[in-house]
This record gives sequence, C-alpha cells and structure tokens, in this order.
Amino acid sequence: MSNRETTADPSLDTSPSSATATQADDAQGAVLTDQRILVLDFGSQYAQLIARRVREQHVYCQIVRHDITAERIAELAPRGVILSGGPNSVYEEGAPQIDPAIFDLNIPVLGICYGMQVACQALGGKVDNTPSREFGRAMCEFLDHDSIFRGMKDSEQVWMSHGDQVSQIADDFTVMARTSTCPYAAIRHNTRPVYAMQFHPEVTHTPHGGQILHNFVREVCGCDGTWRLGDFADAAVEQIRKQVGDKRVICGLSGGVDSSVVAALLYKAIGSQLSCILVDNGMLRKNEQKIVIEEFSNHFKTDLHVVDAEDQFLSDLAGVEEPQEKRRRIGYAFIECFKSEATKIEDAHFLAQGTLYPDVIESGADKDGPAATIKLHHNVGGLPEELGFELIEPLRDLFKDEVRRLGLELGLPEQLVWRHPFPGPGLAVRCLGEVTREKLVVLREADAIVVEEIENAGLYRETSQAFAVLLPVQSVGVMGDARTYDNAVAVRCVNTDDFMTADWSHLPYDLLARISTRIINEVKGVNRVCYDISSKPPATIEWE
Ligand code: XMP
Repeated sequence: MSNRETTADPSLDTSPSSATATQADDAQGAVLTDQRILVLDFGSQYAQLIARRVREQHVYCQIVRHDITAERIAELAPRGVILSGGPNSVYEEGAPQIDPAIFDLNIPVLGICYGMQVACQALGGKVDNTPSREFGRAMCEFLDHDSIFRGMKDSEQVWMSHGDQVSQIADDFTVMARTSTCPYAAIRHNTRPVYAMQFHPEVTHTPHGGQILHNFVREVCGCDGTWRLGDFADAAVEQIRKQVGDKRVICGLSGGVDSSVVAALLYKAIGSQLSCILVDNGMLRKNEQKIVIEEFSNHFKTDLHVVDAEDQFLSDLAGVEEPQEKRRRIGYAFIECFKSEATKIEDAHFLAQGTLYPDVIESGADKDGPAATIKLHHNVGGLPEELGFELIEPLRDLFKDEVRRLGLELGLPEQLVWRHPFPGPGLAVRCLGEVTREKLVVLREADAIVVEEIENAGLYRETSQAFAVLLPVQSVGVMGDARTYDNAVAVRCVNTDDFMTADWSHLPYDLLARISTRIINEVKGVNRVCYDISSKPPATIEWE
C-alpha cells in the first residue's frame, strides 16, 4: 500500500495511463466470477477494509466511485452494493450524493454510517447533527434477528464513529437496532432490499461485524462464496497467456513479496518468455541479492539479469542529505539502470509490475474506481511509459494479504512470502543524512542482527516491520578501558494492519537487551542502541 505522500516527481508518474485504464477492464477477466459486490466509496478510511472483509467471505468485491450511475451499476450487475462511510455531512452543499435510481435496481443495498445517511436522505428520511457525537464502543440492542442480523444476540457491542445521524425515517422503514443515543442504529426498508446501519460492522471493534457482512453477502445477496485465490491464479495464468502470446515480458525484481509473486505467476504462465531484472542499488539488506538470485535462477530458472549499480547510486547520492532529494535521485537512477538493462533484452514487449488493488484505487487508475487521492504511489518501480512497453499488472485486483496467499499457492517459500515490507529506496532512508558505503556496511550488519533476533524469539510474523536505523549522531562511550566516540543505532519495530497507522511493538526487555548487546559487540563503529517508541501518527514508520 502506498502510505507516504511523496513530492511530485516526474520519474514516479503513476497517473492513470491509457494502458492501465484498458487493463482495468481486461484484468476483470482474471477475477472469473459473476458474483461481485460493489462498495461505493464516499471517502471513508474504511472502504478498503469493507472490501477485504467481503473477500474474506470468498466473494469478490470491487470499490467504485460514489457517483457511479445506476446505469453503470446495472451493467456491472453486482449481487449487492455497500455504501461506505465518509467524512461529510449529507445535508451540506456539495456533499457526495448517490444516484437515487440505484434503489430501483432491486439489487440489495447496505448503507454504513454516511452510507446509511445518504440512503435515508434519498429515500425520504432526515439526517441531523447529533447532540451527543459518538466515537467509540457502544452497546446496541438488536430488535430483529433475521436477515442481516441472524445470529446476533439481543445486545452486542458495536463501533460508532459519527457526528450526524438519522433523526427521522420514512414510513416504509423499520427499525432493526438502537442504542441509548441512536434510535435508528439499524433500519431496513419494508419492500426493497435496502438495509442501513449507523455503526461499522467492518471494524474489529464490532466483534460480530463479520457475521453481519456474511449475512448480507451470502444470505441477502445470495452469493455462494466460491471465489478462491486458486481459481484466481488459474484464471490469471490464462489471461496472461492470452495477452502475451509469444512475446517476451520483463519483470523487475526487488526481493519483496509483490514483485516475487508477479514473477512466479508470470513464470507459471509463460515460463521462458520471462526475463527478470534485479537492480542492486547498493541499498539492499544483508545477503539480499544472493537470496533473490538463488530463488529466481535456481528454483524458477528464469532469465535473470542482475545490475550491480551500487557505485552509480552512491555517486548520485554523494553529498545529499535532504530525504526527498535522496528519494528523487534514487528514483531517477533506478529508471536509468532498469532502462539500460531492459533495452538489452531485444524482443521484450511487456513490462510487468506488482501494482496492487490499493495502488489502483489510490492512483485513480480504475475508471469505475474512486477519484485519485492526494497520495502518489511511491514505488520506484513506477516506470514511465516512454520506455515503450505495454504494462501488465496481474495483481491489480488483489490486496496484500491475498498476494501473500497467492505466493504460497504458487510455491514461493514461506520465508519470502512473509518477509516484512522493504521500501523501494531501501537502506538509504534508514541511513540518515548522507549515504556512504561505510555507513551502509554498519547499518546492514546492525539490521541483520535485529531481524535475526526477532526471528529467533519467534516474533517475526507477529511484528509487521523490524529494522535498524543508523543515526547521524556520535556519542561518547567506554569499551574496555578506552573511551569511544561512535555511532548510535535506533531499532524500529512496529505492529500494523495497514501501514497507515502503526504502534511500536512492545518487545520483551530481554530481547531488546540481546539486540543491543549484539549490535554493540558485533558491529564495529556502534556504541549506543536506542529503541524507537513512537507510534504512527505522529511519527512515520521509516525515519526519512
Ligand atoms: P511510512 O514511513 O510512510 O511507511 O510510515 C509506511 C510503509 O511504506 C513503506 N515505504 C516505502 N515503500 N517506497 C516503498 O516502496 C518508498 O519510498 C517508501 N517509503 C516508505 C515503509 O517501509 C512502510 O512499510
């Protein structure tokens, strides 16, 4: 997921291209299902979460813009429609609205929070600012235990997050649930398949929210829950073969999960027509180049081109301290290296990228998808069209957790599939200030110790990202009888579901002690280790 806003950088152009726009349609082929649920995105931070929760029910789910027309929905023929929450007030001028003709399609609709308010307003109800705004857990009384609330107890905890709420419902609605401050916590239409709730069933703070979504997609919408990643892989392979024919595809490998899964999928589809390029920018972790080479030249027997570009990257970064400038230079250098290697592969026609569904949504590349957000997707793999390749993005319909499961299905080792994410600019953003070869040696060793100790403690899968940061700080120490004046290393370890927010990991003290002792003893040039106890926000996960 693209989580960091980057400055506008021409080398990282991810604007929707004609190539990606047509692919949005083509890619649907790999989805292979006539049973889909659409989420209309009214600007909710939870729209993607709703889609993931629906997919956990083995039902394909796609996020679309809130102002999609009823006509287009009829064309897409979903089994059901979910209206997401959103930050606006429905009664304000310019607030996102819904095409009311959607309610005449006879397709089941579930409105959540703002989605409820917009549905109620469109169907004759009234929405007002709540005297007591509700943010947090609330006890909800369920008056109806049928349809979407089958299996719910009389009283259950739900998660509320709203300033407005429905203050009056039209005559043809029935109340299904209420809280002490919200008389219309859930309602349903008496004659149309329209349901709405003020609380959020998609978040884990609504413990039985999954049951509600299950009831909606499986019972109300009649989806049979047969969408499986294995089928997706078979369909994607077919799709790739059809698209590629006998032409050659280039795939950039980074050692990360996404590019590895793309390569494995392509390899399964077209075998020897695949060429992989690994640009070693000198900012990789310890042994990373070796691991990728072993995996992709031994196991997959792909045509692998390794570009050793450490010298070029280091010289481009010489003297540069400003973080965005470092990123920019790395982005340009990557494109230069990749381009020069790619043009040596004579018959190459396609360029494969590990674009994921959140990137597609956030960059606005899907013509039915929500408008682009302010974020630019920051993978340095965003190569410009001028390279002249046709793009192929076989993961563009998948979320990260689905990509990992697909990787396992394709035979990638667990170790690779569960690797913590690693930023495109690599160790450069963890070596604060100017990057030099000497500093990278120190950082690489310290980082390897952090990861090794966390693995040994059995905590690697429980943590989301763990790494070392080399600080641009020297401090006084004493080693043996001698005074030292050496570097400080920060250890960063976070837990997160989506990398948008993160908490620092509460690692056991003895583990922290082992990490610290080993780094100071084994890594020459370090005499102090600190543990970063800042959450995101206000800090970010990376230090630069
Ligand atoms: P921050 O530091 O923004 O990081 O909290 C959130 C997640 O994004 C990763 N990250 C990047 N990934 N290119 C990438 O491919 C980048 O430039 C980049 N910057 C941050 C970071 O490692 C974390 O997983």
